[in-house]
Amino acid sequence: MDDDAPDEVFTDLRTRHLGGWGVVQIAAGTGLAVYAMWAGVLQPGFRRVPLKLQVPYIPASKAQVKNVMTLVRGRTGDLVDLGSGDGRIVLEAYQHGFSPAVGYELNPWLVRLARFHAWRAGCHGKVSYRQEDLWKVDLSKCKNVTVFLAPSVLSLLQKKLQVELPDDALVVAGRFPFPDWSPCRLEGQGVDRAWAYSMQAQRQHTSQKNGNLRPTVNDSDDKLVQE
Ligand SMILES: C[S@@+](CC[C@H](N)C(=O)[O-])C[C@H]1O[C@@H](n2cnc3c(N)ncnc32)[C@H](O)[C@@H]1O
Repeated sequence: MDDDAPDEVFTDLRTRHLGGWGVVQIAAGTGLAVYAMWAGVLQPGFRRVPLKLQVPYIPASKAQVKNVMTLVRGRTGDLVDLGSGDGRIVLEAYQHGFSPAVGYELNPWLVRLARFHAWRAGCHGKVSYRQEDLWKVDLSKCKNVTVFLAPSVLSLLQKKLQVELPDDALVVAGRFPFPDWSPCRLEGQGVDRAWAYSMQAQRQHTSQKNGNLRPTVNDSDDKLVQE
């Protein structure tokens, strides 16, 4: 029989002792594959975003989307999802009458996937998915904002929202609440919970707490400016 017959090669591999160098090679190869997957598929577009502001893609569950929609019920106009992933919240918002419904997402694969989902749902051209860094988006005209992000970025994000959003804006956070804000309503339980914040009420709380100090965002510096 041929020396290189597959059966013999597999038997040889199964019985051969790997040794330290073999283990190192397998570990390095696995690490490289995981890194390539992370950098190439899951997190492309994030090279200019500081590590502490990077948030991985974890799509909202059906219950989370439902809770968000319950909290924005009765409101109209635009809706923006910051870090829109595969676009499910934006699509659902459009189907609940919000227009324009816009998602900002850095990962180009997710932007494409979101557009595909919109096309499949017959909403091509009706919703908008933009490959942009949410930290650079001007939110001064947004009335309804949804965010499903990580606790590590919410403190900085609440400052950006407080500086930019109009008074009549409503912000809905999923999975994690904003650390310093008081919600006007909440919906759902556990990981499916979502919190709604009225910007006007939030500004009143903050200005009472800080005297007449108004928060401003300057890159990643957290600063307060005297009015
Ligand atoms: C936890 S997922 C939520 C996805 C979607 N909103 C949902 O609820 O299904 C967070 C998303 O934010 C995106 N993201 C993180 N940082 C971002 C940034 N600076 N600009 C735009 N998108 C960002 C990630 O790529 C990821 O898809």
